[in-house]
Amino acid sequence: MISSEQIFNTLVLPYLNHAVRTYESGYASVTDIDAAMRFGCGYPKGPLTTVDELGVAAVRDLLAARYADTGDNLHRPAELLEKMATDGRTFADEAAAAGQAPAPEFKQDIARVGVVGTGTMASGIVQVFAQAGYDVVFVGRSQEKLDGVYGYITKNLDRAIAKGRGTEDEKANLLGRLTGSTEREALGDVDIVVEAIAEDLEVKLELFGDLDRIAKPGAILATTTSSLPVTKLGEATGRPESVIGMHFFNPAPVMKLVEVITTDATAEDVAETTRALTANVGKIAVSAGDRSGFIVNLLLFPYLNDAIKLHETGVEMTVIDAAVKETAGFPMGPFELLDVVGNDVSLAIQKELHGEFGEPGFAPAATLEAKVAAGELGRKTGKGFHDYS
Ligand code: CAA
Repeated sequence: MISSEQIFNTLVLPYLNHAVRTYESGYASVTDIDAAMRFGCGYPKGPLTTVDELGVAAVRDLLAARYADTGDNLHRPAELLEKMATDGRTFADEAAAAGQAPAPEFKQDIARVGVVGTGTMASGIVQVFAQAGYDVVFVGRSQEKLDGVYGYITKNLDRAIAKGRGTEDEKANLLGRLTGSTEREALGDVDIVVEAIAEDLEVKLELFGDLDRIAKPGAILATTTSSLPVTKLGEATGRPESVIGMHFFNPAPVMKLVEVITTDATAEDVAETTRALTANVGKIAVSAGDRSGFIVNLLLFPYLNDAIKLHETGVEMTVIDAAVKETAGFPMGPFELLDVVGNDVSLAIQKELHGEFGEPGFAPAATLEAKVAAGELGRKTGKGFHDYS
């Protein structure tokens, strides 16, 4: 019988190592890496703070022991761990040395927001902006899909009212700020468009070309893609300087994080305005470059994939879910979260990561492929790793 500690060492230690390597590579700051995992996934602490608490040298030793067992490059202790252990430095020291970034300011007015899409992410994003007082125009392919967005938001607001946190008047005001349309032309006078449609490059490229035609000059064109290159979407427009990533997390009304993704072409003023807007809707912005997985998915999905591979060795899913929640304090076990995210989404992200980084350890678990092939996608289909029927 495997112990909770062994499960932690199998799943959580490589995640910590990976977070160290992400910092070591200069891709993101200590503060942003930790904030990303706390506010994007609801973890009680960021991975680098966890390394500090366990002790840099202790984490290095645990990883070295694991690497000796598996020979997997992902378990080889990051060089920075070695260096920091020798120098007696902590990640808190690194964060303090980097200092605090100044609060972002609006460089252009944002009053009206457009959202394209009617799925779970789009619905949540519409709610987030309307809740913060913005007028929101959202565009979907049919009246039925638009009604679905109203339904999603109404359900969430009714739940809040039932818990005594909101009134019918507030709900009516919020819903009054929404305008649904089946015509993209309705986006002609918004100050920013946030795209949250299907995760398909061709579909998004067509949309960005059209948004370039429709949106007023200077309007920011944002995408909430989790796996496609923002740079390519910018290139589909005549204004790549106005194109940026605004990656929200599921469920968007609850998760506090937005990853703000800039490309080489994104104007600094556009990036700062997007960060200011993120703060204005009550979310935390972290900055990341246009690379597969950004921060959160890069750290989260290999861990979820490892959990599936551990299950394939015969360990019960419920045992893994419980052990991770107990030892790391994560709000959901890996199989519970996979079912929320959707196995199709998880597989697509894992394939992107495998392609971009070429780590053999990132190859999608066979069971993940099988679940998707069988149409067992998670909560949305009633069955995924767990059964919801
Ligand atoms: N929409 C709106 N509100 C929701 C909601 C939803 N779908 N689900 C839960 N809530 C609200 C509840 O109403 C409740 O609100 P109050 O506290 O104000 O009453 C609050 O969230 C907490 O919900 P519950 O008490 O029912 O449940 P919980 O304590 O288990 O929390 C959770 C639920 C916030 C989702 C929590 O389990 C969590 O943080 N899970 C981790 C989710 C995560 O990791 N998301 C990232 C996925 S990766 C991703 O999104 C990126 C990608 O590109 C795929």
